[in-house]
Amino acid sequence: MSNPFIVLQLLLWLIIVQAISNLTSASSASFSLPSSASPSLYVFGASMVDNGENSLAMPFRQDADFEPFGSDYFGKPTGRWSNGRNFMDFITQGLGIGLLSPYLQAFDSDFTYGVNFASTGSTARNTTAIGDTSVGLFCLLIQIDQFRKYQGLLFSQQKSVLEHQRMRQHFSNSIYFIETAHNDYLTGAFTSEDFDAASFIEEVISAIRDALQALYDSGARTFLVMNLTPLGCNPSTATNQYRNENRDKYGCKLDYLELVNRHNELLVELLNEFSAKFPAAEWIIFDAYSIMLDAYHNPLNYGVKYPFSACCGYGGGKYNYNSDVTCGGPGKLINGTYAVAEKCMDPSLHIIWDSLHPVESFCRYLAQGVLEGTHLNPVINITERFNYISLAGAMAE
Ligand SMILES: *[C@@H]1O[C@H](CO)[C@@H](O)[C@H](O)[C@H]1NC(C)=O
Ligand SMILES: *[C@@H]1O[C@H](CO)[C@@H](O)[C@H](O)[C@H]1NC(C)=O
Ligand SMILES: *[C@@H]1O[C@H](CO)[C@@H](O)[C@H](O)[C@H]1NC(C)=O
Ligand SMILES: *[C@@H]1O[C@H](CO)[C@@H](O)[C@H](O)[C@H]1NC(C)=O
Repeated sequence: MSNPFIVLQLLLWLIIVQAISNLTSASSASFSLPSSASPSLYVFGASMVDNGENSLAMPFRQDADFEPFGSDYFGKPTGRWSNGRNFMDFITQGLGIGLLSPYLQAFDSDFTYGVNFASTGSTARNTTAIGDTSVGLFCLLIQIDQFRKYQGLLFSQQKSVLEHQRMRQHFSNSIYFIETAHNDYLTGAFTSEDFDAASFIEEVISAIRDALQALYDSGARTFLVMNLTPLGCNPSTATNQYRNENRDKYGCKLDYLELVNRHNELLVELLNEFSAKFPAAEWIIFDAYSIMLDAYHNPLNYGVKYPFSACCGYGGGKYNYNSDVTCGGPGKLINGTYAVAEKCMDPSLHIIWDSLHPVESFCRYLAQGVLEGTHLNPVINITERFNYISLAGAMAE
């Protein structure tokens, strides 16, 4: 059992088998699947959009499972890395489809309008951290394997050729959202003297290429791929010990920003490559980077007073971040006092909630970039997709 993927697949399989036996034993299972007549939103990624996946798979193993996470909307932690909703929640509420259920949720799940496969800590590359303190569970390609299992389950329930055909149409009308690679860089960049940025980035992009191809091969046709946010400005990278020396005038670390910019350039090239190869499909960048960088540079336009400071953190100063005393974490004895991270008075005056993830109020701006199409390239009206396809489907019934 030395291969972590085998262990993970086994773990996952046990959960699925249990969930299915729970379903078949409950006469009125509250488990809702999509209709072939309307599209869904299938979400892949990491902590920015995880809405409870890791908490279900490994309860109480990560900061987001503890107070004060979730306090300003859910009134309790839900596994989301925010004081309330994350930006995916705002997107799906904005589309009128409520909150998506995480893939592993067996009870009270609602998969009518989509499934969220995102798993905190996950990477684009085939790395999956295991061990006591790790949170990364299902890397991108594993999430896509999970999607294919789910797809297989739905196809197996279609009785006629026509139903099968309609389900195929459903998957091709659906939207596939991908937020990935932050953790590749957060855990892998600058950790050794001989870190080779160019080949590392190429490895990450190549993993994303494999993932997009796999989804395309499974029938996906509309892709929204989020780029990397400005690492180097957020409290955890701005204060880490790797290559601190060069900063821009805002105090953001230039080596991280350069890495992010190069990754984002190659991501655009990757989508261009796919759109040349598969012109009938839509390959869209969600430029979250620009939204966040603009907020770091012009905080007042977003009602923000402390752009670089974690709302929930420890240590004060510009960043209010200490990696030993993290938001939701157990705290630590420092200089004879027991230190714990405290939540700030007004989260909406901040961009960042904890280390990297935006506060709920800022998530609204990120979601607007998608819902209003201002930060999609090429632009699509995602609301219209959902409305139009539902109507067309209803007329065809
Ligand atoms: C299945 O049901 C059991 C008992 O009701 C419950 O403890 C368990 O968490 C359920 N499993 C899943 C995957 O929902
Ligand atoms: C990554 O893992 C997937 C299986 O989930 C496999 O199909 C793929 O070939 C692997 N890619 C690399 C580069 O190892
Ligand atoms: C602990 O005390 C020392 C000496 O006063 C000080 O230099 C250091 O910054 C303190 N550590 C923290 C985390 O406050
Ligand atoms: C998108 O389409 C919907 C429905 O047709 C419309 O109400 C909305 O204004 C459009 N949104 C944008 C940003 O164009």
